[in-house]
Amino acid sequence: MLLELLALVLAGIHFGVPLIYYLYLKSRCLNKSWNIKIEEIYKPKVTIVLPTYNEAEFIWQRLDNIYAQDYPKELMEVVVVDSASEDRTADLVKKWISEHNNIDLKLIEEPVRKGKLSAVLESLKYVSSESSIVIFTDADALWEPNALRKATMYFADPTIGAVTSSIVYSNDKTFENTYRDYYNTVRIAESKIYSTPVHNGPFLAIRTELLRKFGLPVFPGSDDSSFGSYIALLGFRAIQADDIAVKEPVRGSQFRRKVRRAQHLLLNFLKTKQYAKKIGVYESTETFEKIWKIEWWLHVVNPWLLITCIIVLLISVSCGSFAALIILGMGLMFLTLKTYRAWILQQLYLVIAAVRNLWTKETLWSK
Ligand code: GDD
Ligand code: MN
Repeated sequence: MLLELLALVLAGIHFGVPLIYYLYLKSRCLNKSWNIKIEEIYKPKVTIVLPTYNEAEFIWQRLDNIYAQDYPKELMEVVVVDSASEDRTADLVKKWISEHNNIDLKLIEEPVRKGKLSAVLESLKYVSSESSIVIFTDADALWEPNALRKATMYFADPTIGAVTSSIVYSNDKTFENTYRDYYNTVRIAESKIYSTPVHNGPFLAIRTELLRKFGLPVFPGSDDSSFGSYIALLGFRAIQADDIAVKEPVRGSQFRRKVRRAQHLLLNFLKTKQYAKKIGVYESTETFEKIWKIEWWLHVVNPWLLITCIIVLLISVSCGSFAALIILGMGLMFLTLKTYRAWILQQLYLVIAAVRNLWTKETLWSK
């Protein structure tokens, strides 16, 4: 009976904490006003950074999509950093440039592939001195035409350091969007309170001045979320906007991609704060500290409670416990519910990611 009780307590904490956090955010914070200066007339020069590796399938439509932004072309510059793609990515970019002469687009060709982080760091050398915002993006993302215009408006407020978008999956046959609905609610609500520690690679805008002054976190596996968190840990707001939508196709092996993303997300929670402290730029803000603690717990510790709970139940069942069998059966039955299934899968990805991080940080990945 003791084991069953232990399992119930573990399950109670595992599901209870995120549920209470979600309900609190949704009811108390999601619909708050931003409380910042958002100005439509603020139109600074922006730099779009696009790292590519073997993106021949997407690159043309990606450049077209950037070109179609309702933002003045003379205020845009695009830096594509290609890491020795083996398909025709670089050639296609050159061809695209030759067909469009009214937009400033540079192609940087790295002779060897050292990974996305390395390419992104390289791109910063080509950001022009007039640039006020750098927007990082992916080759397979598609922005709504107003994404750039909407994002820049937030930067009219000097406290804003980073702005990320929500993601909508364009060919969602699974439950990717259910998972996203939950997360978008949490991220936007956290942003309304102060800042969110999770950011999206398809659209992540950062104030150029901060990049110049503080650089980016450069530990292996550092990625979109660690960039955003880093800005928040410098004492600036890093938010997910509620009016910028970006589409991304679901592609490649879902399992490997999810585990890799979870690996990078975990590394964000394990390394970014220490990194900022180590280089002496960390600026503590009370509200973000609280958000960081909860999210740290949800990513680093909480998934393991579920695993422990399952193990405890299996042991009880093997000792002949009928109650444990009923609890396990109920847990399995709930898998028919989409949101619950998406939640459980995400917990498994985080657990596998934690183990995988022990020997690889997945700095180079295949599609
Ligand atoms: N230059 C360069 N060099 N670009 C690269 C490299 C590289 O070695 N590896 C990947 N990229 C580029 C891709 O071409 C793409 O434009 C972008 O980085 C993101 O890679 P995807 O292959 O599309 O990965 P994803 O869909 O899982 O992306 C998500 O997870 C990544 C972290 O695991 C996004 O959120 C990314 O922004 C994030 O970095
Ligand atoms: Mn992608």
